[in-house]
Amino acid sequence: MKLYRAKDYYDMSRKAANIISAQVIMKPNCVLGLATGSTPVGIYKQLIEWYNKGDLDFSRVKTANLDEYKGLTKDNDQSYYYFMRENLFRHVNINEANTNIPDGTETDAIKEAARYEEAIKELGGIDLQLLGLGHNGHIGFNEPSNIFPKDTHIVDLQESTIEANKRFFDSIDQVPRQAYTMGIGTIMSAKKILLVVSGEDKAQILHDVIKGPVSPSVPASILQLHPDVIIVADEAALSKF
Ligand code: GLP
Repeated sequence: MKLYRAKDYYDMSRKAANIISAQVIMKPNCVLGLATGSTPVGIYKQLIEWYNKGDLDFSRVKTANLDEYKGLTKDNDQSYYYFMRENLFRHVNINEANTNIPDGTETDAIKEAARYEEAIKELGGIDLQLLGLGHNGHIGFNEPSNIFPKDTHIVDLQESTIEANKRFFDSIDQVPRQAYTMGIGTIMSAKKILLVVSGEDKAQILHDVIKGPVSPSVPASILQLHPDVIIVADEAALSKF
């Protein structure tokens, strides 16, 4: 694991955006694994800025998102489809046909999980996977458990995740209880992984992810076993080191 220390959220966003830019410049037809949540928003802003300056070209880039709430339509402003469109896709020259997100409206969970896993294989795998970190150590929506789920699957969200994500909804009752997520095996198959972490509220879990035992009770701890992981974290998130 390579750890880059950033001063603050803005610095973290720029450093991480630089790593993604380098990937796009070195391999213009790369496959990017993308993430939602509040942490990557600054990264996407930076990428849009560089795109507007003519420094980046997304025309051949393909993407696969980590996860999507089950039951939310694409036009629901809390769906991850909507998030990606508003925070990145509609601002750059990416071809929508080259973007992949689990279909939250598919009610047949086994069918949708298998379709999505296959879609990633058809892309030829992920070159660079961006990850945020849940307060309980989740990556994508792989919640703490007693196993590491391998492939894309449906999950029941934990109360702490519902609680953490309720800030985006009008009320806690509107937070979906289930989501589709890439599995830990899907994530670990990416050639390179970029984990971004900001804020003191993530300091303890980041410490456990890096220094603790590899255990499905802290899903992100499995990243210790990946050969090419970059962590970009700000000083607040690194305050337990
Ligand atoms: C959500 C997403 C994760 C994300 C995490 C942290 O539940 N499914 O992919 O990394 O929460 O989000 P945030 O960056 O807002 O703290």
